[in-house]
Amino acid sequence: MKVLVTGGTGYIGSHTVLCLLQAGHDVVVVDNLVNSSRESLNRVQELAGRNVVFAHTDLLDEAALTAVFDQHAVGAVIHFAGLKAVGESVQQPLRYYHNNVTGTINLLRVMDAHDVRTLVFSSSATVYGGNNAVPYVEKMDIGADNPYGRTKEQIEDILSDIGAADSRWHIALLRYFNPVGAHESGRIGEDPLGIPNNLVPFIAQVAVGRREKLMIFGGDYDTPDGTCLRDYIHVMDLSEGHVAAVDYVASRAGVFRWNLGSGIGSSVFDVLHAFERAVGHTLPSELAPRRDGDLPAFWADPSAALADLSWSTSKSLDEMCQDHWRWQKNNPNGYAAP
Ligand code: NAD
Ligand code: UFG
Repeated sequence: MKVLVTGGTGYIGSHTVLCLLQAGHDVVVVDNLVNSSRESLNRVQELAGRNVVFAHTDLLDEAALTAVFDQHAVGAVIHFAGLKAVGESVQQPLRYYHNNVTGTINLLRVMDAHDVRTLVFSSSATVYGGNNAVPYVEKMDIGADNPYGRTKEQIEDILSDIGAADSRWHIALLRYFNPVGAHESGRIGEDPLGIPNNLVPFIAQVAVGRREKLMIFGGDYDTPDGTCLRDYIHVMDLSEGHVAAVDYVASRAGVFRWNLGSGIGSSVFDVLHAFERAVGHTLPSELAPRRDGDLPAFWADPSAALADLSWSTSKSLDEMCQDHWRWQKNNPNGYAAP
């Protein structure tokens, strides 16, 4: 099948493009490169031994998107493109709603006009918000706590309404937990712009000497070691989940929701110590005040994805950190030239 991947040069998108190529699919990537590098796809092509079509296109440009769909016989879309920084979304909500929600509406309009109605969407565990008990289960009511999360929630609502109105749509809503790690080759990985917001990219930059020390946000939570618990998932496991989801919905109409997580909660100290084992020595860190908006603990109930997609995670926290470290060590400046 020919799969169009929006956001395919980004972190999760580039790993998923590799998995799609290895599973025998053809791939067209649409990305405006606002948070990624074209180099990621060069490396994906080198790893797969196959080529990908790249369209340097913004989802906000509906005419340009139409031209891409006119040129390629797309069978399904995996939609990663979006802005994703929670703090930035609080500062710039209009930019986030416009980019993420309007960009998705444009995509859906162009898909509909081209009779392409199979879609896998990147949602997030953040849609569960702070009012649900853990582990999170797909049937729970959702309610995000910040503008970024609300863009995901709104897009989920739009897709649910479309699926209810027109039975020709085949839609998967994938709620990811905390993706980390990199392809085992160390050739592709996460390359955040500026100071990383997320834990593992920050630790990796401390390990490679780009940051002085890790600040551990809050050591007084009601958790076993006082730091927050999250469900970390290897990006290759996550990418395989997308291949499973697109194959599943390709032959089934309706709107499906799946958590993609491991079902295991790990603390900030668990992650730091796993990364230290990967590097082979301790890393500088310091306890700091809690970060605004952090929930103390959440993880997935991943049993629906296992039952429906025969998908579950296979890689441990140690493997996530080893692979993330190989990528960072071999590419200290990410995709930028040394
Ligand atoms: P990323 O920033 O690496 O990838 C997103 C890509 O989308 C980038 O390449 C960016 O250039 C592109 N993009 C953004 N706006 C665009 C637009 N208007 N037109 C075309 N391209 C555009 O992020 P990622 O970590 O790979 O995340 C992929 C998706 O998964 C996002 O939708 C994100 O919200 C979601 N998600 C990520 C996480 C996480 O922790 N990384 C967790 C849950 C959900
Ligand atoms: N943390 C630190 N120091 C840092 C960075 C993070 O102690 O420098 C802590 C945080 O306080 C939190 C844990 O590490 O306790 C994980 O934080 P991340 O920022 O890595 O991940 P979050 O769970 O806050 O959020 C991420 C994405 C969201 C997404 C969510 C669930 O940023 O977009 O996972 O998928 F919604």
